[in-house]
Amino acid sequence: MKILITGGAGYIGSHTLIELYNSGYNFIVYDNLLNSSKEAIKRVEKIINKDIIFIEGDIRDTLKLKELFSKYSIDSVIHFAGLKSVAESVSNPLEYYDNNILGTLNLLKVMKEFNCKKIVFSSSATVYGDPATTPILENFPVGGTTNPYGTSKYMIERILEDLYISDNSFKIAILRYFNPVGAHESGALGEDPNGIPNNLMPFIAQTAVGKREYLSVFGSDYDTHDGTGVRDYIHVVDLAYGHVKAIDYLNNSNKIKPLIVNLGTGIGYSVLDVLKAFEKASGKRIPYKIVDRRVGDIAKCYADTSYAKEVLGWKAKKTLAQMCEDSWKWQSNNPDGYGI
Ligand code: NAD
Ligand code: UFG
Repeated sequence: MKILITGGAGYIGSHTLIELYNSGYNFIVYDNLLNSSKEAIKRVEKIINKDIIFIEGDIRDTLKLKELFSKYSIDSVIHFAGLKSVAESVSNPLEYYDNNILGTLNLLKVMKEFNCKKIVFSSSATVYGDPATTPILENFPVGGTTNPYGTSKYMIERILEDLYISDNSFKIAILRYFNPVGAHESGALGEDPNGIPNNLMPFIAQTAVGKREYLSVFGSDYDTHDGTGVRDYIHVVDLAYGHVKAIDYLNNSNKIKPLIVNLGTGIGYSVLDVLKAFEKASGKRIPYKIVDRRVGDIAKCYADTSYAKEVLGWKAKKTLAQMCEDSWKWQSNNPDGYGI
């Protein structure tokens, strides 16, 4: 039996392949390479010393998905595939809804047709919108999203919950990631954003390596310990292992309600905390300028992680220093990413 990994060539997916392999799982990867490179798969193959079954395709391509499910015995899906840029989703909402919503609906229909009823879905802390308090618990209100990307994640969560109501033999895990950063400790695998990075850690890494002149710190008047935005940064390898625990959980449970769980560290670091930690890890000075707040940003976002510990037996282990060290190793070894 195999796990189908949609979006498995991407940043989080590629790291998850290694953790799944280390835990003895078999998988196949399906990705349209819209935001990734085949090179990531080659590097994973090198790390695990094994060939990977990779199929290039789109989750909106029903025929191709059906072919896949006919050819292989797939008993579960980890569904990473989708578009993820907040800013892009504001300027191109139709593409975001088409890819994320239609793509997921299509995948779920094919899964149902082939009686494949286990799915782990990549959701996001963005579904909480601007939380009234922190740390954020899973039962906090959701849906107050501020951009089409976040709304698409919220909608998919609802679709999955309705699917379960209609057919409670579906086993569903909705993982709400906080801020994934870092890279594989080998330095061979990491985040390779297209163009100018929107996210903090890749921007800092590119500044440290000399590709960007300085970091713009978006606002210094937030209600946080130093005035800059606070987030829950989680090492991508810890996050990847969370997927193994989610699959274990689905495999080891009988009929269960959809599991909804935060994957974060529970610790909030500010922009300046991250900058300083990265300077230390890289030995480079990272110039920065304080600029206006970015529209749509919130002051603080970090997880209450007790439910993940209780239900999955999972806890993030890696520190901010390790996140920065691994990110720096990846960036300095691969200044142009995978070179696509
Ligand atoms: P990524 O862009 O690196 O990976 C997504 C992968 O999906 C890419 O390889 C892309 O080529 C593929 N893809 C996109 N549309 C597809 C389609 N229609 N058919 C097949 N493949 C398609 O992103 P990531 O950071 O690895 O994120 C993985 C998932 O986690 C996404 O669903 C994302 O929304 C979610 N997530 C990411 C973050 C984050 O900060 N990275 C935070 C919360 C949630
Ligand atoms: N920031 C800067 N300068 C930059 C980039 C970011 O100061 O150049 C600040 C932001 O203002 C924020 C913090 O760094 O305070 C983190 O910003 P990111 O863009 O790295 O991350 P976000 O928390 O805004 O959003 C990320 C993903 C979303 C996801 C969310 C929650 O981009 O897709 O985490 O999981 F929904």
